[in-house]
Amino acid sequence: MSKGLFITFEGVDGCGKTTQMNLLAKYLKNDGHDVIITREPGAKGLGEKIREILLHYDVEVSSRAESFLFLADRAQHIDKIVNPAVEEGKIVLCDRHTDSTIAYQGYGRGVDIAQLTMLNNLATGQRKPDITFVFDIDIETSMSRVGKEKDRMESAGIEFFEKVRKGYLEIAKQEPSRVKVINSTRSIEEISKEVLGYINSVL
Ligand code: TYD
Repeated sequence: MSKGLFITFEGVDGCGKTTQMNLLAKYLKNDGHDVIITREPGAKGLGEKIREILLHYDVEVSSRAESFLFLADRAQHIDKIVNPAVEEGKIVLCDRHTDSTIAYQGYGRGVDIAQLTMLNNLATGQRKPDITFVFDIDIETSMSRVGKEKDRMESAGIEFFEKVRKGYLEIAKQEPSRVKVINSTRSIEEISKEVLGYINSVL
């Protein structure tokens, strides 16, 4: 179906995935590939408005309402940004995608995972990530990286993030051919080496 590649970067807040995504983008561009980087929530346009609500709206948001906001952002993102780019043959690197909803709203908040999976499918249509990296890290380290200034999601607490982490590992267990778990307690260079090695084995 796809001409390009769709690669997603997942993990708890503070796991280092954005740094790794940027390093991979640089490497692939130097290697002559046509690459775009994007994110959920909050790609250009409607996504930026949804992101503002999700991260900074200071009224309590119900877990189901929160799920639908992430899903609305996702549907718009897939239709307007990801699909056109992949169909043009580009490599799309995306900071968070469907697995964030399963890990955060499903495992973290307790929203029904089978229903979320169905809604994820509705939001994404035929598009599935070709490769997903899960950057796995202990929560003490990840929280210390996030620091004191936390947004609405980051303020959820250690117990919540422990559940999210477990959720990601469960997803990886269920879909080992798509999801590659990367031990992210190591240095940026070591992690990047593993990511590049994996990508080179696929490209
Ligand atoms: P962001 O600042 O992009 O965090 P990070 O740099 O760690 O990716 O904020 C996104 C937040 O939204 C993050 O806490 C994870 C959360 N999130 C969900 O809970 N569900 C989702 O489906 C998505 C895409 C993100």
